[in-house]
Amino acid sequence: MTDIRFDGRVAIVTGAGAGLGRSHALELARRGAKLVVNDLGGAVDGSGGSVSAAQTVADEIKAAGGEAIAHGANVTKADEVADMVEQAVKAWGKVDILVNNAGILRDKSFTKMTLEDFEAVVDVHLIGSVTCTKAVWDMMKENNYGRIAMTSSSSGIYGNFGQSNYGAAKMGLVGLMNVLHLEGRKYDIRVNTLSPTAYTRMTEGLIPEEAGKLMTAESVTSGLIPLVAEDAPNRLILCAGAGGYAAAKVYETPGIYLEPDKQTAENVMANLDRITDASGQEEYREGGQQTMKFLTAAVKHFGVKLG
Ligand SMILES: NC(=O)c1ccc[n+]([C@@H]2O[C@H](COP(=O)([O-])OP(=O)(O)OC[C@H]3O[C@@H](n4cnc5c(N)ncnc54)[C@H](O)[C@@H]3O)[C@@H](O)[C@H]2O)c1
Repeated sequence: MTDIRFDGRVAIVTGAGAGLGRSHALELARRGAKLVVNDLGGAVDGSGGSVSAAQTVADEIKAAGGEAIAHGANVTKADEVADMVEQAVKAWGKVDILVNNAGILRDKSFTKMTLEDFEAVVDVHLIGSVTCTKAVWDMMKENNYGRIAMTSSSSGIYGNFGQSNYGAAKMGLVGLMNVLHLEGRKYDIRVNTLSPTAYTRMTEGLIPEEAGKLMTAESVTSGLIPLVAEDAPNRLILCAGAGGYAAAKVYETPGIYLEPDKQTAENVMANLDRITDASGQEEYREGGQQTMKFLTAAVKHFGVKLG
């Protein structure tokens, strides 16, 4: 297997002053990419901030012979993100790779969670990823090349108690990927999602230290690298943790068709076993496939022709 290289590629990794982002940035640089190391440098809950975290990682890259600039943009602020992209273009002419990784946590049960805590988390994870992606999107289209990684979480894909804000934001990123991979396809912009689990400052209170030793950031980064490589897949949710690598997928069951006089809530309730029967389930690549499945059944019943 040939080495995955990023020579000549320019990458932005957000939240790269610590944890997973730092590991991603170091590895991309080690494989030849020029790096914008972004980090606001705040606490886990998003408070405070200093560019020194990003600068330390950029210095580390440079000390190892790579090229890097640090940028302290808050990913939720469009003007700061625009400046970050401008700096990258000024230094290296383009941005090829964007790893949306920056994140914060404000865990509380939904009853105790304030709207401010909800919005702050959605803002950094979802709107921050949108803001950074928007800032490079048109350039990637013009260059006919782009690799974008979102960072989701099992909390969004499956659910974790006390993380309604985080779970909503993280599943929102999957929806963003689903649409952008369609809109970017023509321009060789590929969009994928990483769902990591690792021992970082974000999870140190949640994961026992012994288990934490197995859950290295580097093992997760080995999952991220293929998602932004030249030969990257498109619209993959790659889950990575402790050396395990898996794909998370959404499937839809064949379901049932109810004739017009039987389309009642009671009949839907009575048929939940058949509706949820997984045999013959499919993975769709576009929302329209679901509409076509339903319409096909209805058309068959009525014996009409569409269009
Ligand atoms: N560690 C895990 O097990 C795990 C699990 C699932 C998902 N994730 C996700 O992986 C990503 C990285 O998490 P981590 O564990 O390395 O956490 P971390 O706290 O070590 O790193 C997150 C970094 O993002 C930066 N950041 C926060 N808000 C920012 C903003 N507005 N602008 C710019 N930078 C900002 C922080 O300063 C920090 O350096 C996050 O998106 C997180 O939600 C982590």
